[in-house]
Amino acid sequence: MREQALLWERGDTSRIPFAVYTNEDQHRKELHRFFYQAHWSYVGLEAEIPNPGDFKRTVIGERSVIMTRALDGQIHVVENVCAHRGMAFCRERHGNRKELVCPYHQWSYALDGSLQGVPFRRGVRQDGKVNGGMPADFDPKEHGLTRLKVATRGGVVFASFDLRVESLEDYMGPTILGYFDRLFNGRQLRILGYNRQRIPGNWKLMQENIKDPYHPGLLHTWFVTFGLWRADNKSELRMDAHHRHAAMISTRGSAGQAAGDGAQVTQVGSFKESMKLHDPSFLDIVPEPWWGGPTAVMMTLFPSVIFQQQVNSVSTRHIQPDGHGAFDFVWTHFGFEDDTEEMTERRLRQANLFGPAGFVSADDGEVIEFSQRAFETKPEHRVLAELGGRAVEETEHMVTETLIRGMYAYWRRVMEE
Ligand code: FES
Ligand SMILES: [Fe+2]
Repeated sequence: MREQALLWERGDTSRIPFAVYTNEDQHRKELHRFFYQAHWSYVGLEAEIPNPGDFKRTVIGERSVIMTRALDGQIHVVENVCAHRGMAFCRERHGNRKELVCPYHQWSYALDGSLQGVPFRRGVRQDGKVNGGMPADFDPKEHGLTRLKVATRGGVVFASFDLRVESLEDYMGPTILGYFDRLFNGRQLRILGYNRQRIPGNWKLMQENIKDPYHPGLLHTWFVTFGLWRADNKSELRMDAHHRHAAMISTRGSAGQAAGDGAQVTQVGSFKESMKLHDPSFLDIVPEPWWGGPTAVMMTLFPSVIFQQQVNSVSTRHIQPDGHGAFDFVWTHFGFEDDTEEMTERRLRQANLFGPAGFVSADDGEVIEFSQRAFETKPEHRVLAELGGRAVEETEHMVTETLIRGMYAYWRRVMEE
């Protein structure tokens, strides 16, 4: 099906064509418009590359990039494409090097991507004669790695292929920036570990999943049964002016476990009265001063990342598309340098709710996979996202799909331009 054939049934975004998730040409266009132009993408945390020479290989969209810390401490992001014959030369995920060397013909680059050495540049002397070599007008300055524009804030590193992209702060907008700064408020971050998973579904479904505040109280047995996320929790939904980013802000009721507390919740099919925790320390939640009230804030920064705070567990979740029908999802669990050992333990314990086998997140990977399967079988059909009406608006409750409608209103503006 061609991209022009997309049918938005009501003219708005309350009904989303399945074809939005199934068309490969359109996927290529999304990569260009959202990941390679005019947007910032998440690449990692400064704490992942604390020392000069440290690097991390990651991706923006489907392009491989390397985040480095140069010998002067400066952070750079360069594309993992050799300026010679194009090899994606860096194969390690993390490491420490004084320079980056492509194994194919050993071109070497400084950590900021500038070309330093080209073997046989001046040819090879043989029998008093110089053979080969690069042309006399070869200028190494013109053949460095592609350097991206970099922005860091609160220890988080973003990059853009688009050197004219607006500032990171303007990109987030004041509302989302406020929630970003709540989490990344200048404290040194401490990396606790990673989870990686491959989800056979379109990458936008992960953005949707976190812009859908009402499924956790229905789908996730763990959340419902142990009272961490309920439809009657005090909550707010906020967006940037373009409706591409969002924050779901929720405060867990003082009631905690749902048992005996409100018929509405105990009637939810996923509430399992008989389910008990063998280890109650999973719910050893200790409020932290920086929360400032909410017990959970889930932020979606379009297109590339989700920032999670669920009680004491904090993580970044990096969306890495791979074709229209799959993405890699990389979780970085972190804490703060001034955490006590006890708090670090607690964050790690609560992180068991998340990641590919998490008590909660395993469910999300599955529903995304099974949605994609259905989309592929009938791309002429459409999704219904009409809960809470058809408008795009901020709300003081979570019984709505308004953030999804907002994201697709933005998606359409950019894709139909
Ligand atoms: S392709 Fe990298 S040095 Fe030739
Ligand atoms: Fe979920």
